Amino acid sequence: MSAVPKSTPAIPMQDSTFAAFQRVVLRLTGIKLSQDQRSMIVTRFNRRLSALNIDSFEEYLAVVMTSGHPETTQFINTVTTNLTYFYREPHHFEMLGKEILPQLAEKNEDGRDLRIWSAGCSSGQEPYSLAITAVENLDLRNTPVKILCTDIDSRMVEKTRIGKYSRNHLRGLNKEQIGKWLKPSGSNLWQADAALRSMLICKQMNLFGPWPVRAGVDVIMCRNVLIYFDANHQRKVLNGFASIQSPGSFLILGHSETFEGISQHYKRVANTVYLRI
Ligand SMILES: C[S@@+](CC[C@H](N)C(=O)[O-])C[C@H]1O[C@@H](n2cnc3c(N)ncnc32)[C@H](O)[C@@H]1O
Repeated sequence: MSAVPKSTPAIPMQDSTFAAFQRVVLRLTGIKLSQDQRSMIVTRFNRRLSALNIDSFEEYLAVVMTSGHPETTQFINTVTTNLTYFYREPHHFEMLGKEILPQLAEKNEDGRDLRIWSAGCSSGQEPYSLAITAVENLDLRNTPVKILCTDIDSRMVEKTRIGKYSRNHLRGLNKEQIGKWLKPSGSNLWQADAALRSMLICKQMNLFGPWPVRAGVDVIMCRNVLIYFDANHQRKVLNGFASIQSPGSFLILGHSETFEGISQHYKRVANTVYLRI
């Protein structure tokens, strides 16, 4: 009988090191880590330390801060929280399908692409829900739709691009929708229909880095992302959104992200739905 390997004891994190972690995370991602997240951070990063054979958080942070080091990307990917599902906050998709998209299509006399940005798209369930909503409610021959999908987490952008999900990542879709919009692909995997995938443009992008986004975005959906930032960083992003949207376009935030007064450029038109004024 082989001996059961003893699990390596977790490497602890000093108060001052956690404070340094908080500063580095804020600088690289805009994410504000709270004391409550400390044990989660210690657990997640113990895995990185053991993968790299490093035995202190101080040494690990020095590696992360080395310019151009590949661990910086891993660090960012380890810090992010990626919870998402199809049709999360369904009232947004209902309003988009019944009011916002038809209204934008009607104003779009020259047949240009309607441009939607899923900013903080995670593994793609949000932009695919957007794509289905567009296909089901617009005539795409007259009004083509392009959905820019961005996230700071490079793994998530790749997942979005591929659009393959296991059964437990199909939460939010019923059987009929799965049959209609996804195709079986290998064992216990379903892939979003090619027509939906062709509507997506996927790019890794930090909201606090350069934005390779042309002005004139008709709908920005940035849900459950700003909640991780402090007020300064939230304002920066909201001002950035305003600078690439024209009056008459829409911004959709997450259920706990109400920003009364934080931006003079938007007027609330429904629960967490804002009109660019
Ligand atoms: C909780 S998920 C939200 C996913 C989706 N929008 C939804 O509501 O279901 C938050 C996403 O924001 C991304 N994120 C966090 N900080 C970011 C930043 N500075 N720039 C771009 N994306 C960021 C994370 O990687 C994560 O995938």
